[in-house]
Amino acid sequence: MKLGSIELPTDLLLAPLMDVTTPSFRQLICDLGGVGMVVTPMVFVQQIALAPKTVLPHLEHIENQSPASVQIVASGRNVEHIKKAIDFLSSFQFDILDINGGCPATHTMKSGGGGALLRDYFREGDKSRFQKIIETAIKFSSRPVSVKTRLGYEREDEILEICKMIENCGAEFLTIHGRTVKQKYHGEINFDIIKQVKNQIEIPIVGNGNVIDYESYKNMKEKTECDAVMIGRAVMSDPLIFNKIWKQQKSSKNDFEFPPFTERHTIEKIRQYLQRNNQFIESSSQFWNTDRFKFAEMRRLAIWFIKGIPGYKKVREKLSKINNFSDLKSYIFSKSFEEDFNQ
Ligand SMILES: Cc1cc2nc3c(=O)[nH]c(=O)nc-3n(C[C@H](O)[C@H](O)[C@H](O)COP(=O)(O)O)c2cc1C
Repeated sequence: MKLGSIELPTDLLLAPLMDVTTPSFRQLICDLGGVGMVVTPMVFVQQIALAPKTVLPHLEHIENQSPASVQIVASGRNVEHIKKAIDFLSSFQFDILDINGGCPATHTMKSGGGGALLRDYFREGDKSRFQKIIETAIKFSSRPVSVKTRLGYEREDEILEICKMIENCGAEFLTIHGRTVKQKYHGEINFDIIKQVKNQIEIPIVGNGNVIDYESYKNMKEKTECDAVMIGRAVMSDPLIFNKIWKQQKSSKNDFEFPPFTERHTIEKIRQYLQRNNQFIESSSQFWNTDRFKFAEMRRLAIWFIKGIPGYKKVREKLSKINNFSDLKSYIFSKSFEEDFNQ
């Protein structure tokens, strides 16, 4: 399928997830198949402009994760920072530059970027910053530019007033998380507004929010008529989610039933994922390849992946008490790890 000028193997995008979609996690998801594009977690243009080396770890292996998108956060108050950041990023191999226009996190809002762009567009009479960021990025980037945003700051229909502006600037596609900035992660997804945006503009729309399996993927596509679907938090407990939806899409039989995640997600598979992820970290730079990071990554992935397996709470408790990589590895690959689920 095509998203603007970008050819994607599937219509499923891995959402940017700060502190979650590390290079090793992105690689694991790519290796498991089904994902059409990955997006790095947000990087602040100011940080890239002033201390470019500090963002290097987040871009590691991006050339092997194609199609890939790098997401930036900008306030638009310093156009020089955007130019410098784009110039620095231009030496990396990725396919699209994405602008964060919806993040509700305090530090992003305080920076004047992310969700603050929506807030200020409607409340501070500051209509120009959002537009200036998109225009500047398009002017200086050799890659196409996309925008990821929400329905609005506090009203669910605000996006309808700005989607034309985003299109007219020349954005390649628009991702919409079907909530307002104020809602953060609470409340229902408003499919109807995403559909209204789809009807108003020509560029492709990516629907995002609460997609956790094939049913909710289909629901997002049918209710919004979006061109592609972005999945975030669900991948944390189900790393096979892309593979699973992709296989279900391909199945010609309408009655194709994929076994529930926990039934297929054996201890052995979990160990394989963790091992694969760890090997990848060991082939990464010294920034990632430390016992501290290997420990943190293996423990949190193990805790996410076992969720739902009968007896997982006891195992989770044990995992949370371990405090070093060597003990963690020994426990996960020992017989007692399996036995603890049955106690
Ligand atoms: C831990 C976490 C980190 C996130 N980091 C980013 C980010 O860096 N950039 C961004 O645009 N959205 C970020 N998001 C929002 C997600 O990309 C996504 O829009 C949101 O979680 C809704 O999709 P979901 O219901 O599939 O998770 C983050 C969300 C979470 C939970």
